[in-house]
Amino acid sequence: ELSPIDKAKFVAAKRSVDYVEDGMRVGLGTGSTAAWMVRCLGELVREDGLKIKGVPTSTRTAELAREVGIEVISLDEAKWLDLTIDGADEFDGDLSLIKGGGGALLQEKIVATASDQMIVIADIGKEVETLGAFPLPVELIPFGWQTTQALIEETLISMDVLGRNSTLRMNGPRPFITDEGNYILDLHLNRIGEPRQLAMVLNQMPGVVENGLFIDICDSVIVGFGDGRVEVRD
Ligand code: A5P
Repeated sequence: ELSPIDKAKFVAAKRSVDYVEDGMRVGLGTGSTAAWMVRCLGELVREDGLKIKGVPTSTRTAELAREVGIEVISLDEAKWLDLTIDGADEFDGDLSLIKGGGGALLQEKIVATASDQMIVIADIGKEVETLGAFPLPVELIPFGWQTTQALIEETLISMDVLGRNSTLRMNGPRPFITDEGNYILDLHLNRIGEPRQLAMVLNQMPGVVENGLFIDICDSVIVGFGDGRVEVRD
């Protein structure tokens, strides 16, 4: 038996595969909700003969996709995608997102941007009025990361968006390492008044590879509820 939150994730994931058609190249997201979607797609491939090629957004998702029988190709082989389906950590009324809780934001943003359409699947708990309660992940080059952290904090303080409150993501005693060999700095902002401006400022800093704000990328959010209901926002 699934808990209400897992049920909500599952029903959103299950609904999302209705958007996948024969012959599509599909970006496969990362996280527990996206994992349900990959399993549902695998079932359609194995049992209904659905023909798709999948581009995973992490090594974890690549493994799962192969395991369930989805043909996996690289983004460079695909060149462009029809559709990407991914989870999110937060979404707002503009369908702006915070992503990267699972640490895969860089590949996720590249893949979603290369897609004609991005559908987010999420439980209702991810919906927010204003982004920022979830710490914003920023992917950093390991070289000089403390200098980059200081630069980020100084800049955000001068913009009035942050106290001195960012933390290096850890994996036990060591820094968490992304699939691209980088670090993640989590910014505890509480409230992101101007996500577009913040995303631009962050990405201009030397040492910053990418940030977890997805703006004007997501086309629809499929929201799942604990009682099995599903709503689509677009
Ligand atoms: C992965 O890097 C994230 O962007 C995920 O999409 C996010 O963390 C959602 O994960 P869950 O579906 O497990 O909540």
